[in-house]
Amino acid sequence: MTAQPIKHYLQFADLAADEYAYLFQRAALIKRKFKAYEKHYTLEDRTLAMIFEKASTRTRVSFEAGMYQLGGGVVHLTTSDSQLGRSEPIEDTARVISRMVDLVMIRTFEQARLARFAEFSRVPVINGLTNEYHPCQIMADIFTFIEQRGSIQGKTVAWIGDGNNMANTWAQAAALLGFTLRVATPRGYEMDSQLAALNANARSAHRWQNVADPMQACKDADLVTTDVWTSMGYEAESEARRKAFANWCVTPAMMAAAKPDALFMHCLPAHRGEEVAAEVIDGPQSVVWDEAENRMHVQKALMEYLLLGRVA
Ligand code: CP
Ligand code: NVA
Repeated sequence: MTAQPIKHYLQFADLAADEYAYLFQRAALIKRKFKAYEKHYTLEDRTLAMIFEKASTRTRVSFEAGMYQLGGGVVHLTTSDSQLGRSEPIEDTARVISRMVDLVMIRTFEQARLARFAEFSRVPVINGLTNEYHPCQIMADIFTFIEQRGSIQGKTVAWIGDGNNMANTWAQAAALLGFTLRVATPRGYEMDSQLAALNANARSAHRWQNVADPMQACKDADLVTTDVWTSMGYEAESEARRKAFANWCVTPAMMAAAKPDALFMHCLPAHRGEEVAAEVIDGPQSVVWDEAENRMHVQKALMEYLLLGRVA
């Protein structure tokens, strides 16, 4: 089993800038070896449990394929096929599962539910998305930016759309890694500044600005990024959101306002014609497929790090 103390990855702020620097260079090595069909069995005989209380394509495949490629195995659970769906307390689930596996990844609703699982777990827990945060995705996005354009420090990222889990995580990353986040959200869908901070007491250290006009947010940006108008768990609000977000579609005109070499990112799944125009997501500035692939490479580096620490 894992060495103490346990290191969890529940939000972006759980790791420091130097740990991200290590993880990005480690992910680059892991990616190179994957492309060259070189074995990289650093987690042989280790087991990852993945718990999904919401749907997933990328998170499931990237963690599952990634763990096999590290020499380990996976157990996949959902709410409906486990006792979680029959009200077994999350604390008891954590106690039981963490006696049998080395690592747990959870996708769930409230961050507090994830935190409760982590509190009762004997092994590291990774956030595979909550209502509040999606740290593995932002790690992959920043790794993708670095691959394409070099360091993200001092750059400007435009967030167009909902002040959701992705936006909160971008804001934490901006403060930690030293770039500016411009956030354009419709009224009533702003980011929660407490969630966007590195911790509840660090609100003044933030590196994000609210900008009313999405076109203005894109001006001279190095990266333009967006997400669905309605996140998982908020489906009852879909109709109201469709109206409120009508002007928050990333268009070719918005991309033209950004720097000429600006990238476009979207964590996917995407709705062409809603939050992004097809010409943008399918256009030359879009790196969405690299982003999706890079989930696997950064998460392999993360799993290794949580279990083994820095590998020479
Ligand atoms: N981006 C992302 O997390 O995708 P899935 O919902 O398919 O896992
Ligand atoms: N904000 C979206 C991201 C999906 C990967 C959601 O939470 O549904």
